[in-house]
Amino acid sequence: MSSDTGSTPGTSPSGNPASRPRIFSGIQPSGVPTLGNYLGALRNWVRLQEGHECIFSIVDLHAITVWQEPERLRTQTLEMAASLLACGIDAERHILFHQSAVRAHAQLAWIFNCVARIGWLNRMTQFKDKAGKDREAASAGLYVYPNLMAADILAYHATRVPVGDDQRQHLELANDIAQKFNHDYGVDFFPLIEPIIEGPAARVMSLRDGTKKMSKSDPSDQSRINLTDPPDVIALKIRRAKTDPEPLPSEPGGLEGRPEARNLVGIYAALAEIPVAAVLAQYGGQGFAAFKEALAELLITHLGPIAAETRRILADPAALIALLQRGAERAAAIADPIVAEAERIVGFLPGRAGLPGRPG
Ligand code: AMP
Ligand code: TRP
Repeated sequence: MSSDTGSTPGTSPSGNPASRPRIFSGIQPSGVPTLGNYLGALRNWVRLQEGHECIFSIVDLHAITVWQEPERLRTQTLEMAASLLACGIDAERHILFHQSAVRAHAQLAWIFNCVARIGWLNRMTQFKDKAGKDREAASAGLYVYPNLMAADILAYHATRVPVGDDQRQHLELANDIAQKFNHDYGVDFFPLIEPIIEGPAARVMSLRDGTKKMSKSDPSDQSRINLTDPPDVIALKIRRAKTDPEPLPSEPGGLEGRPEARNLVGIYAALAEIPVAAVLAQYGGQGFAAFKEALAELLITHLGPIAAETRRILADPAALIALLQRGAERAAAIADPIVAEAERIVGFLPGRAGLPGRPG
């Protein structure tokens, strides 16, 4: 509990030696990360490491809300860890771990299951999307998924959460849970969370359908760019990406009602770090061919080094597992006392003597 010796920033249980705001974010090991993950979340995570104390989790508890083949889940968790490191996550200065290794998440999630109202969960659009038509057949875990997500963040008293636009509603729910907990128990224990949703590519869409988000779990591999795709695959996917017959517009307003064009131009702008207007100033009035070629080039330049670094890291799985386990220990050192205090507030008796648990 008192690992507050200050040697490594980010390990202090009560937070913030250098008073840097604490960040938490998570990503599911449900496949290889996509360009959507990269532009919507990961690139921001890497940047936010400067000036924040960051805790990043590969959320395997979330992943099993839909069926995961056990052996694949293990492999995908390692691949996700390697990808995150390859993108520039610094697991020494910050914390990277797999969610299931820190028990505090599930413990606090149970309390939150009892704080959140069914009516709140019924409004979650992601559940409706993921459960599909046969809602009765969805797992109970998929339904209470947002409560676990709230627990992930609040177990660390994290106040800033970088995510893609699709997670906005879940973060609003997390704030509702924090407020209701504080109100019901008459405490000021859980802080308010501030979402960080940034950039022209906070929502990257499918290459096959500009109205659907790009997702690692989409059945069609043609719908997405994976961070591990080789150059020829990237080039082919972009060449085949759906567009419309009109030439590119010369101004951003002209992208209205053209979701596929808007998506590709948004991706270009995000990667090149220039405004959408600047992309259109260059390519407006032309067909898609030259633009697509330039976009593929840009993608290959950005993603090539990440793919190579991911392969290098994956060559030593034992070292990678050890890294995640060290991360889990440091994460637990922060979360355990916070969750123990939440349990005390709720009225649970102290846990077993000598084990990390609730203070007596
Ligand atoms: P997930 O892949 O669902 O675990 O999402 C991990 C992170 O990537 C979350 O912050 C998501 O909001 C973000 N993300 C996932 N898909 C996209 C997308 N198509 N566009 C932008 N951000 C995304
Ligand atoms: N639900 C998020 C997603 O699918 C992943 C996630 C789980 C997360 N726990 C989190 C994101 C906590 C931010 C904070 O994208």
